[in-house]
Amino acid sequence: MPRISRRDLLGSGLALSTSSLMARTAWARTAALFAHDPQGAGQDSAQGATPAAWAAIAPREQFLFDFGWKFTFGHGTDPARDLGFGIKQEDFAKTGDFKFAKVGFDDAKWRALNLPHDWAVELPFVRDDALQSHGYKPLGRGYPETSVGWYRKEFEIPASDAGRRVNLEFDGAFRDVLLFVNGCFVGRNDNGYAPFRFDITDFLAVGQKNCIVARVDASIGDGWFYEGAGIYRHVWLAKTDALHLGRWESYVRTKPKDDKVTVWLGTSVVNEGKDAESASVRWEILDAAGKMVVAAEAPAQQIAADGAVSFEATASIMRPVLWSVETPNLYTAVVTVKSGEKVRDAERVRFGVRTAKFDAGHGFFLNGQPLKIQGTCNHQDHAGVGAAVPDRLQAFRLSVLQQMGCNGVRTSHNMPTPELVAACDRMGMMMMCETRQMSSSPEGMAQLETMIKRYRNSPSIILWSIGNEEWHLQNDMAEQGAKIAATMVQRCHELDPTRVVSAAVNGDNSKGVSEALDIIGFNYNLKFPDDFHKKHPTMPVYGSETASTVSTRGVYQTDPLRNTLSAYDVNHPEWAELAEEWWTFYGAREWLAGGFAWTGFDYRGEPTPYGWPSINSNFGIVDMCGFPKDNFFYYKAWWTKEPVLHLFPHWNWEGREGDEIPVWVHSNLDEVELLLNGKSLGRQKVPRLRHVEWKVRYEPGTITAHGWQDGKLALTEERTTAGPAAALKLTAERMEIDADGEDVAILTVSAVDDQGRAVPTADVLVNFKLTGEGALIGVGNGDPNCQESDKEPRRSLFSGLAQVIVQSTKTAGTIEVVVEANVRHVQMEPAKIAITTKQVTLRPAL
Ligand code: GAL
Repeated sequence: MPRISRRDLLGSGLALSTSSLMARTAWARTAALFAHDPQGAGQDSAQGATPAAWAAIAPREQFLFDFGWKFTFGHGTDPARDLGFGIKQEDFAKTGDFKFAKVGFDDAKWRALNLPHDWAVELPFVRDDALQSHGYKPLGRGYPETSVGWYRKEFEIPASDAGRRVNLEFDGAFRDVLLFVNGCFVGRNDNGYAPFRFDITDFLAVGQKNCIVARVDASIGDGWFYEGAGIYRHVWLAKTDALHLGRWESYVRTKPKDDKVTVWLGTSVVNEGKDAESASVRWEILDAAGKMVVAAEAPAQQIAADGAVSFEATASIMRPVLWSVETPNLYTAVVTVKSGEKVRDAERVRFGVRTAKFDAGHGFFLNGQPLKIQGTCNHQDHAGVGAAVPDRLQAFRLSVLQQMGCNGVRTSHNMPTPELVAACDRMGMMMMCETRQMSSSPEGMAQLETMIKRYRNSPSIILWSIGNEEWHLQNDMAEQGAKIAATMVQRCHELDPTRVVSAAVNGDNSKGVSEALDIIGFNYNLKFPDDFHKKHPTMPVYGSETASTVSTRGVYQTDPLRNTLSAYDVNHPEWAELAEEWWTFYGAREWLAGGFAWTGFDYRGEPTPYGWPSINSNFGIVDMCGFPKDNFFYYKAWWTKEPVLHLFPHWNWEGREGDEIPVWVHSNLDEVELLLNGKSLGRQKVPRLRHVEWKVRYEPGTITAHGWQDGKLALTEERTTAGPAAALKLTAERMEIDADGEDVAILTVSAVDDQGRAVPTADVLVNFKLTGEGALIGVGNGDPNCQESDKEPRRSLFSGLAQVIVQSTKTAGTIEVVVEANVRHVQMEPAKIAITTKQVTLRPAL
């Protein structure tokens, strides 16, 4: 098997080379409540509305269930160290027997924490080759003491909740979850990425305290990359009337034509009450300002007790404001269920109006305009926090990618958290949304269906992916591959007739999985697309995964002894491509829709091409913190219309005086001139989609690049030899954040010399002191070889930079962070910063 041999090669470190109109009042009030969506964190979260206000209109309440949990490690093999779970064989014999999940169980020694939580990122690194691809964290059957975690929470259910349905919903957890409520086993979930939910109504004691326990087992992983461990996404508690909307059943489909869009609306209403009911559904469509633009209604139908009925309607919006990458305009459909005059349930579905079309001869079109997909594949972890990424950090990560002109992300190789999809909708980032398991088994299909239903109203999603690089299903099991893929593709079409379905295929796409796809994605292999296009001129093609260029930020030498990779665009594993190689190919062919580079951000695991002590990948265009590597500017030059002139490397080469140093410039200007200490070293034309370079004999001082456009000097960049680091600097991406216990400030630490110039080689260990209304939740520096803790209040700078992430409490005030050098003999000025945390309406939480 080609893939296996390639991974083996990686391990050895040898592979390096380079959706009827009617009347108002109650309806209108409902719509107004749904209009406000400051963070956009979910399809029907009640942000901006108080729970009381929500209940006054629709009996539904949705609470964020992240706060006030207790946690302890269990054990993967020893029941005595796993709360006694599994000691007796009849553990599941009697309902209500699980003591640890009863109110009053003594959890005093358990650790208090809030979600999201990833315990893997808190563990030390362990040198074991079996752990390499997951980033050397001790998880798996071999590490039973750190692979099972127990989460416990006690909470009140008021007597007024009697007769309502209560559902507990997880946005995702890693990985196998057993859920217990008040001593009763309620259910299990066996995958790490799909949202899942349990109706816990019957197990609850109304008017009393209740207890929930989740045993999370991360012994078995899905991926060949860091996946985290624990309840690493949000948890929600939803309370509804017994007559309610079906979960993820609402859809809004749009078809814009000329100055009008037809909107197809659909949903399902479930009756969990004792008696048959008659219900009608109304949709109110609000524009981005919350103003109702149109309403539609489906007439009342009879719903039997324990039955469910579908409702449909159509509407049209005149002169719709389209969703696009530049203006990500969103509409909201407020879906309300009424029986007689009484509103019984309501939810809000955010959607956008746009067309997305893949054309075999002319590439991708958004709203009828050609648009190259300038995409990146990304895993879901970040420095300091692992897989437990706060919502605000999702938006930060997208903004970093947008700065280099990236307009699309592929959620490789798993379905994303809802907050990432919501951020893409809001921010104008297109998305290729991928499921984890390529399988038509009941479990594989359930995951796929959840993904499509959960996200089909999101305008950012332009295509679905049923999986990635399934070697067997493309080769020796091609026949089964074609059948499995056909079943999956058909279900995607049934649930969402508006989007194409693809997969990321590493191969020639001649058989197996590829036979069932709507559009063809190539992973790597620049040798295949031209031939494929000739043979299949009506099949649209794009790069599902490209590049895998490897580089270390701020380091300009490839040194296998130090596990470093030059930041020039010169290294890739044998299956991969340089940034310049893949984009000169995809960027220059009109018929290609564009592609997704592996990867936007570095991630833990896959420390290609090295192994220990490297603990994270080198594939990122930006590092684990989001600090740009030099290739960022290659993409920025050719992916944006802004004038770009990026000169590198830095000019601190003490001890290498007289040596030839390659000096590169990434630019989209006509010509670049390079000067060393004022003396011109020549002017070069910038070839389209490429870079320019010089060889310069090192002498301290300044290198200068002048960028010329239409014969005029357009931009100038300099790199000056800096002196020793004399002071620390602390800057923040935002100086004011929300006092909601969730928002974060992302701080950058750097070092400057006595003249205030950045010291690009600074690697001093620094300490952080935090006071006020916040907590430090993670640190990082982007060094793939750094094994310092992500959680301790200290970090070494790497190539002059480090990152610290601080989170607000729910009390407004100030967070003060002081950073100082940890080393006694180093005389460095400390730095401090004060972040303001402002009072906001909290989202309802329990
Ligand atoms: C691809 C694979 C990715 C990652 C990448 C590294 O083949 O789909 O998950 O492993 O290789 O280059």
